[in-house]
Amino acid sequence: MLTESSAPAVVTAVQENVMVVRIDNPPVNALSQAVRAGLLAALEQAEQDPAVTAVLLVGQGKTFIAGADIREFGKPPQAPALPDVCNRIEASRKIVIAAIHGAALGGGLEVAMAAHYRLALPMAKFGLPEVNLGLLPGAGGTQRAPRLMGAAAAADLMLSGKHISAKAAQAAGLVDQLEQGEDPTAAGLAYAKALLAQGAAVRRTRDFTVASDATQKAAALAELDALAAATAKKTRGLFSPAKIIECVRAAIELPFDQGLALERSLFVECLSSPQREGLVHAFFAERETTKIPELQSAKPRALSRIAIIGGGTMGAGIAVAALDAGLPVVMVERDEASIQRGQANVEKVYDGLIAKGRLTPEAKAATMARYTPSTSYEAIADVDLVIEAVFEDLEVKKAVFVELDRVCKAGAVLATNTSYLDIDAIAAATKRPQDVIGLHFFSPANIMKLLEIVVPAKVSPDVVVTAFELAKRLKKVPVRAGVCDGFIGNRILAVYKQVADFLVEDGASPYEVDEAVRQFGYPMGPFQVTDLAGGDIGWATRKRRAATRDPQARYVEIADRICERGWFGQKTGRGWYLYPEGARVGQPDPEVLAIVDAERQKKGIKTRSFSADEIMRRYMAAMVNEGAKVVAEGIALRPLDVDVTFLYGYGFPRWRGGPMQWADMVGLDKLLADIEEFAKEDALFWQPAPLLKQLVAEGKNFSSLNRA
Ligand code: COA
Ligand code: NAD
Repeated sequence: MLTESSAPAVVTAVQENVMVVRIDNPPVNALSQAVRAGLLAALEQAEQDPAVTAVLLVGQGKTFIAGADIREFGKPPQAPALPDVCNRIEASRKIVIAAIHGAALGGGLEVAMAAHYRLALPMAKFGLPEVNLGLLPGAGGTQRAPRLMGAAAAADLMLSGKHISAKAAQAAGLVDQLEQGEDPTAAGLAYAKALLAQGAAVRRTRDFTVASDATQKAAALAELDALAAATAKKTRGLFSPAKIIECVRAAIELPFDQGLALERSLFVECLSSPQREGLVHAFFAERETTKIPELQSAKPRALSRIAIIGGGTMGAGIAVAALDAGLPVVMVERDEASIQRGQANVEKVYDGLIAKGRLTPEAKAATMARYTPSTSYEAIADVDLVIEAVFEDLEVKKAVFVELDRVCKAGAVLATNTSYLDIDAIAAATKRPQDVIGLHFFSPANIMKLLEIVVPAKVSPDVVVTAFELAKRLKKVPVRAGVCDGFIGNRILAVYKQVADFLVEDGASPYEVDEAVRQFGYPMGPFQVTDLAGGDIGWATRKRRAATRDPQARYVEIADRICERGWFGQKTGRGWYLYPEGARVGQPDPEVLAIVDAERQKKGIKTRSFSADEIMRRYMAAMVNEGAKVVAEGIALRPLDVDVTFLYGYGFPRWRGGPMQWADMVGLDKLLADIEEFAKEDALFWQPAPLLKQLVAEGKNFSSLNRA
């Protein structure tokens, strides 16, 4: 017999003596209030229905349950709370089975762990990724996971935020039964029948122990401590990992209910931490950047063969990214020696992986079979998309685009990887400016996630959409940018980099600036980054801009003095730092400090000292002020596009959400007051962005523009 009733987002149907509870809350079955209420009601209904002997939890669509509804964080809580729902599931007197066919993440896995039995299908994946949002599993997950899989394995799942497969989940103890197929209801019903036939009883995870005697406890604690030490570097600066470890320790040492109480209080601490706000902003921001106006009217063009012009640092990196995505790649270089170098640059990446045991020579050969080297443009006549990555020189690039225009088939997308140059001018070198776009990859291009998609005036919407499609294929995080000197990222970088130079000329050492920036949460300071990328790149840009520089504008020459000596950073063994015998971590260089001193004296500067906080106030004020100009000019669609650019291209600490989100959290009025104070020293440089002034006057923040 089949009886049916429905609650919002949760539908129940009693099939023979099993109540099938279907969570149906698209797109990912997040545990919104309606789902929590529906689950609770379903459990009550099952408990009271004498015809029901077991409950089967399944997800509708691709997912089991993707976790808490992230949009509800930071809003007033609505009953029922998820921990109560999980406790109710676990307390059920009738057997509860979770049949998992897709993602069971965060709260979704907590629901599954509160069930009495768990079945998984091959496409299922499991994880407790709350750490990525500044949180910890707050619905019993920190207490139940260690009871099912052991303390260290559970802590590892929570600290890494990683997803594991159905097979791995079974091996770890999270899953009782693996079945083939894609239909969780059919598999779940069969499993329920089998369990009932065996006379299986209710089996509550809370009744399991992590360690039952003093020796086991000591061993579990030792393992946990070792894991904490091993992950300390990765979790540096983050708030929730230490709380996760505290909860797992409680799972080892305390009774279940006390562990739950501790978890609750630490979860609330995480929830109210600024890191949670920053990380949740980052989660949604990186999904929002793909929502571009062109999508309304256009579809992507075909994209099955691509070409890359230039096999240097960037060309080779882009080639690897495309090959790794399964695309055939033709690489064109200017002569035989250069193409051999280009191919060697590509192979070097794969050989490195082979040396580390992460790739087999056969897999490399299979990938390289899709790579075609050439010195002739004729070889790219039939490709769908070309990415030019030759020298950063407008005339050289224009000449390349004349050739592309000559050989490429009609409708091919012609892209440039220029860092700064005017893409409208490059497009104008062709008779098909509607097909020309900027694809600004970051170095190393096979690793860095950011892809600025730079939209020139004449490009057609379907080319823009094709570029976003390419980003998806290459697993990049795309940000739409407008044409200007440096687009979003490098334009803003140029401004705060100047502030770093001002700080050094005014009395801070480059090492103090780097240290302050690292303390803020960046992996490296700006002078370390210069040494890594090569000081000659910035030097060339400064020379290019010299002719258009306002003679009144402050210009710090220290970096030029360093470059004039041929000190370009790591590749030359010294730059702002010394790198004896190829060391990758630099040492402070007294000779650099002497150059700094000499430059200060030449200008008669009366130096002062700067605290780390003073350094960061200036550094960030410059970054956000330029960010506001970039948004106001439409170079970035929204403040969140600036945030994502800095999170994925410039090492901005993710837990701060991005520079614009950081500014909102600090308060735009405070930031404007800082800029106005700095303007007393240098009014030309510190011109407050009109958008910033407007938002402060209206009592608004950048986030209000993200929603617009
Ligand atoms: N709460 C609210 N919305 C969520 C969500 C959640 N837990 N998980 C995903 N979404 C939304 C996304 O914002 C996106 O919305 P949009 O279409 O308006 O942009 C939509 O669901 C689809 O998500 P997306 O990530 O684009 O889909 P996907 O198929 O690539 O990945 C998941 C699906 C479930 C793997 C992925 O969304 C994910 O990892 N979600 C977060 C899981 C998590 O952290 N859970 C713990 C919460 S404490
Ligand atoms: P690179 O000097 O390493 O490589 C350039 C390659 O282009 C060389 O191999 C050269 O032989 C080749 N080349 C020059 N003229 C050519 C022509 N007419 N036809 C075919 N090949 C030609 O330079 P790179 O660092 O790879 O930079 C390439 C582009 O990418 C530049 O526009 C640069 O601004 C941009 N970019 C560089 C970085 C970076 O960090 N290096 C980051 C983003 C963007």
